[in-house]
Amino acid sequence: MSLSTDAASTAHDHHGFEPFKLADPFAAYKELREEEPVMFDERIGYFVVSRYADVKATFDDWQTFSSANAQAPIRPLGESAKRIMAEGGFTTYSGLSARVPPEHTRIRAVATKAFTPRRYKVLEPFIRENVNVLIDTMVAKGTEGNILTDIAWDLPTITIFTLIGVPQEMIGEVKEWAGSRAAITWGDLTDAEQEPHARNLVNYWNFCQKLVSDAKITPGDNLVTDLVNLQAAGDEITDHEIASFLYSLLFAGHETTTTLISNTLRELLTLPESYRAVTDDPKKIPGAIDEVLRISGSIFAWRRTAVVDAEIDGVKIPKGSNLLLLMASANRDPEVFTDPDRFDIERANARNHLSFGYGIHYCIGNLLGKLQVRIAVEELTRRLPQLRLAPDAQIEYGENLSFRVPTAVPVEFS
Ligand code: HEM
Repeated sequence: MSLSTDAASTAHDHHGFEPFKLADPFAAYKELREEEPVMFDERIGYFVVSRYADVKATFDDWQTFSSANAQAPIRPLGESAKRIMAEGGFTTYSGLSARVPPEHTRIRAVATKAFTPRRYKVLEPFIRENVNVLIDTMVAKGTEGNILTDIAWDLPTITIFTLIGVPQEMIGEVKEWAGSRAAITWGDLTDAEQEPHARNLVNYWNFCQKLVSDAKITPGDNLVTDLVNLQAAGDEITDHEIASFLYSLLFAGHETTTTLISNTLRELLTLPESYRAVTDDPKKIPGAIDEVLRISGSIFAWRRTAVVDAEIDGVKIPKGSNLLLLMASANRDPEVFTDPDRFDIERANARNHLSFGYGIHYCIGNLLGKLQVRIAVEELTRRLPQLRLAPDAQIEYGENLSFRVPTAVPVEFS
């Protein structure tokens, strides 16, 4: 049975909030912020937190609100999925985001040494070249394209693969595995629907472990080798932890950026004067990207669990409770953002959005993600200043608790 509307409580209408429906939740978010900023949603078993100040403070207080549940399947694994994963030797849970101090602090310190801006800044010309190859291919097909599949799908994957040291032929497979991870962790699946995804996760995990063992035999100029070398030099990180970090990166490193590139173009083209403004003055692109992250981030909600009895906005949160932090609602809180539903690429405080989280788990890849979106927009505006949304473009979003992924961004450029 579905966890969402079918099991809806008769107690109240949840202010129109539907946990898995992310296409247009903004009216519900507004009502939640105004009427019940901390609401217990019994359909998912989570306290739903919607105001900016509360979301930020909860992220910031890791001693009270741990991220241990951030990667737990929202719908517990069925027996068959559990069996497939146990038999396949699937033993990871999270690389960083659901680990807690002191373990998180130790692993993040090693990861940060390897994951330096210097390591990925050298990728900039390579990213630009790839964007241009993708634009060439799109343009060669005619006068219509789809930003999601033609540009945004491959670009971050090629980047993260090169950074980590994964062969390009694996793109299709890893994208599929990553999709399975999103579906099984944040989707609303039946036991039977979980099974193929469980098989994919087994393959995904075995692949990450092999990357580590291979790097010990055949080192390369890449991040896995850097991590293996740090370990050899005495940094405290096990092979299992390195493989788990790769398991994180091979998901977080492209899914979210694919979505951000797609949403950036969709927002800019929906308000064509903003696309014109960044075409005329590329210095406006970084601000525009922050505004897209604010109004249309890749991740709408993230999770925490209370490790002690707590209280938010006067609502008691008993120890052991789960919390769903609605960053996409916080990002439209009028207490912080004036006229919050308006897309404004010159908004002075757009950078205060919470789409990368906040505090000790703040997204480690935020600069790499934004770098790729910036280059994609720079090259698209330079080469296709006449780009526009296809007139009949129907942009839909798949159902998910956290990841708001458009199904297509159809464009024209005749
Ligand atoms: C560009 C769009 C991206 C968005 C919207 C995004 C969003 C997020 C969010 C919401 C978190 C959780 C923060 C928290 O719990 O406080 C996170 C953590 C993380 N992100 Fe990203 N991310 C993006 C790109 C990337 C990229 C490109 C990478 C890697 C190359 C990456 C790697 C990670 C990792 C490893 C963590 C866990 C950090 C920790 O727990 O210490 N992300 N990200």
